[in-house]
Amino acid sequence: MNVSITVNGERVSREIEARQLLVHFIRETPGLTGTHWGCDTSNCGACVVQMDGEPVKSCTILAAMCEGHEIRTVESLERDGELDPVQQGFHELHALQCGFCTPGMEMTARALLDENPNPTDEEIRTAISGSICRCTGYKNIVGAIQWAAAKESATRQEA
Ligand code: FES
Ligand code: FES
Repeated sequence: MNVSITVNGERVSREIEARQLLVHFIRETPGLTGTHWGCDTSNCGACVVQMDGEPVKSCTILAAMCEGHEIRTVESLERDGELDPVQQGFHELHALQCGFCTPGMEMTARALLDENPNPTDEEIRTAISGSICRCTGYKNIVGAIQWAAAKESATRQEA
């Protein structure tokens, strides 16, 4: 079957098997291997992307279900050579070691801050509760997301 999905603002059309998962559709698109596939149980969250602005586990969705929807992956966070504040926060707070969970964490964080610009630590922990970090621990990840929230708040006040 043929499917057309908007990924990071560009229409991607391809013949696929009806059973193909969104995570594989994305990763088989040239240049888009940032979305990771980390488990077979829908538990790890490494595969999180945004679908119409909502964080979703792309290993739980068939690509065929995404026709007509807007998918956003981690590659879309950097704009004009500038990292998204969430990415900057992860860098500043050393919120990763191996980085395998990072794309999913960052896409979840971006969706959270777009909806709730000043989250509490508890709200951040709830938002990222669907994602597992196997090596950094969550303290610095929460700190990184708070760093991004503070930076965006300062930017809004300057504007
Ligand atoms: S790959 Fe682990 S939740 Fe999707
Ligand atoms: S940084 Fe290694 S799994 Fe999170």
